Amino acid sequence: MVSNLFQVKDKIILVTGGGSGIGYGISLGFVKNGAKVYICSRDFEKCKKTAEELTKIGPGKCIAIKADLSKLSDIKNLFEEFSKYEQSLDCLVNNSGANWGEELEKYPDQAWDKVMNLNVKAVFNTSVAALPFLRKNATSQDPSRIINIGSIDGIRVPRLETYAYSASKAALHQLTRTLADRLAPEHILVNAIAAGPFMSKMTKQTFTQFEDLVKSSVATGRFGNNEDLEGLLVFLTSRASTYITGAIIPLEGGVLIKSNL
Ligand SMILES: NC(=O)c1ccc[n+]([C@@H]2O[C@H](COP(=O)([O-])OP(=O)(O)OC[C@H]3O[C@@H](n4cnc5c(N)ncnc54)[C@H](OP(=O)(O)O)[C@@H]3O)[C@@H](O)[C@H]2O)c1
Repeated sequence: MVSNLFQVKDKIILVTGGGSGIGYGISLGFVKNGAKVYICSRDFEKCKKTAEELTKIGPGKCIAIKADLSKLSDIKNLFEEFSKYEQSLDCLVNNSGANWGEELEKYPDQAWDKVMNLNVKAVFNTSVAALPFLRKNATSQDPSRIINIGSIDGIRVPRLETYAYSASKAALHQLTRTLADRLAPEHILVNAIAAGPFMSKMTKQTFTQFEDLVKSSVATGRFGNNEDLEGLLVFLTSRASTYITGAIIPLEGGVLIKSNL
């Protein structure tokens, strides 16, 4: 039965940056399908508010934990806190991320530190810290998962001058492949989503200013929405996708195939 294959009810999920934007859409999708979702970021009050809101929506539930993932000590604390609630984790979604736009010759050194640290190094450190929990229930029939939120900007050259960001997302895609190879024998599947334009805190200013231009660069002519996230994330966390690992899956409405002629 297809409905059994796509089941995520009672699965335990951790979504970094789950309090806003794409992370919020992902967390909402999991809660609507009966999962127990942990969300974390620096702004604990925002995560707590989101967690309460999502729990009300149900039938799953949502719990907030504070964590600044740019600090190794906070990643350690995150899993100490998590271990007070759970012994195992079915899926880690590495969604927290940062961007920085600036002209080529003004591009600051600190942009590289901030963006590479959160978008690549923190994903590695969070994934490694999650391993003891991911290993607990991982089987070949129902593997545990790591899902990294990459970007089309890690595949094509972006229009804006976001040098560290696009390099970080390309690095994240390659990290996805190397972790997938390393962890497959332990029944942990690792995939990335190359996201296209979604309206969020990170993109609101640019996408509002250039809305028509952005939409015209998407073959389907629109921004991504919460159901787009729900569909792919539920698939990638359920038994429906146990033969997929190391994949960079585009969720971008056809930006990459859009003809500009
Ligand atoms: N929106 C798009 O069009 C688009 C396209 C492709 C890829 N993406 C990717 O999607 C992911 C989510 O971005 P978004 O667009 O949804 O933007 P967003 O709403 O600004 O989300 C970014 C999230 O990262 C969290 N975060 C930032 N710094 C953090 C830190 N040091 N420690 C822990 N969490 C931190 C933020 O929470 P706090 O501020 O509370 O820490 C926030 O929840 C990012 O990886 C982004 O690169 C987005």
